[in-house]
Amino acid sequence: AEADVAKGAKVFSKCKACHKIEEGANATGPSLYGVVGRTVGSIDGFGYSGSLVAVADVWSPDHLNDFLTNPKGFAPGTKMSFAGLKKITDRANLVAYLDSLDD
Ligand code: HEM
Repeated sequence: AEADVAKGAKVFSKCKACHKIEEGANATGPSLYGVVGRTVGSIDGFGYSGSLVAVADVWSPDHLNDFLTNPKGFAPGTKMSFAGLKKITDRANLVAYLDSLDD
């Protein structure tokens, strides 16, 4: 099935405690504006753990899917304290939503 951006926006409620979608707006986590296709760990002024760049170069949809399934499994040592999204449809819809932000 086609990914559903509106459903992805609802899934994003699970990320909002730590992430904003406005460009340049960092919080507990880095801004997710333009994250699909973005260089891993590349937001200036955000204090990353270093664990993400150790396992990926660019946030492709596949890498986002893998990271969001099990953040600490994909990137051991990451300081993103999030259990992950169990449902593949939730992950696909969320990635489609994130990809729509910088259209
Ligand atoms: C990093 C997505 C939930 C805190 C990241 C990155 C992505 C991401 C793509 C890497 C960005 C980059 O390389 O610039 C998401 C999504 C979430 C979510 C889609 C919801 C499904 C959360 C939650 C928290 C959080 C709930 C806080 C409890 C962080 C932190 C980092 C991070 C601290 C930096 C990790 C590190 O440097 O190891 N997130 N996140 N995230 N996120 Fe999340």
